[in-house]
Amino acid sequence: MRVVHNVAELRIAVKALREEGLRIGFVPTMGFLHEGHASLIRQCKSRCGATVVSIFVNPTQFGPAEDLSSYPSDLEADQSLCLKLDVNVLFLPTAAEMYPSNFQTFIEPGQVAEPLCGKFRPGHFRGVATVVAKLFNMVQPDLAFFGQKDLQQTAVIKRMVKDLNLPVDIAVVPTLREHDGLALSSRNVYLSPDERKRALSISLGLFAAETAFKAGERNASDLLARANECLWGVDQLQYCELVDAQSLEPLVHQVDRTAAICVAAFVGSTRLIDNIILSPNAEASGLLGLGAST
Ligand code: PAJ
Repeated sequence: MRVVHNVAELRIAVKALREEGLRIGFVPTMGFLHEGHASLIRQCKSRCGATVVSIFVNPTQFGPAEDLSSYPSDLEADQSLCLKLDVNVLFLPTAAEMYPSNFQTFIEPGQVAEPLCGKFRPGHFRGVATVVAKLFNMVQPDLAFFGQKDLQQTAVIKRMVKDLNLPVDIAVVPTLREHDGLALSSRNVYLSPDERKRALSISLGLFAAETAFKAGERNASDLLARANECLWGVDQLQYCELVDAQSLEPLVHQVDRTAAICVAAFVGSTRLIDNIILSPNAEASGLLGLGAST
């Protein structure tokens, strides 16, 4: 595994892989890697000849009152996981490398970044889109992997790739969960044992709605009520919404196309997000047409 810290070294390492005729896969992360990240890397390994992983805690996607300064990190553990997973290139840029002084150009996502997290984290998706576009330009991957856990992020990235004609395909990997259902997240480390128990109510609510959906329930407000009934454990619910899984526009009547229930809530001082996909064509579940964008 080559570990590189700047764009010049990165380009040399990727060029060598490309000259071997390998398809380049890319998994961007903010580190403190867990099995969810590992499943993205494994997918990447299975679909591409070479795998590039980046770890960069991107300051432009954090709001002033958010957890940038305390974002968890364990670079040694991350490096050994990447080594174990046989990653070809690990890119660890510094903030100065990503945002040199006088940096002033951003990507402004449109409508798709407005609802859900966009309402509660102003500027977040602008920061995500900007850093991901920069990383795409640095790595120049053929295929890049994102988790369904951050559903709106995948929608914003896919939109950006289409709108800006970026030469990369996007693959979306299903959410990896703990045995009891809690979605894996780097931020779960913040949860006390009591908060950890209460956090479970988020996924239980989503599973309850999914069970009702599988039993034939299609009424949007009834499905949302199922999810909400279980959300007793959270301290502050930001949203629990039923939306079109592609456009993220609210679905208010019937679920007649692939939809998602998306939740964001604070448990203690930790903000958690999760979602579940509801597809009227159950057999198309898994990546549910949310996979490669082309
Ligand atoms: P980060 O939160 O580190 O997540 C990196 C990738 O891992 C994202 O695509 C995310 O959706 C995926 N992921 C996280 N938890 C997952 C889980 N339980 N199952 C499957 N995939 C999971 O998302 C970011 O970083 C940043 O916004 C980034 C895209 C790197 C831009 O800075």
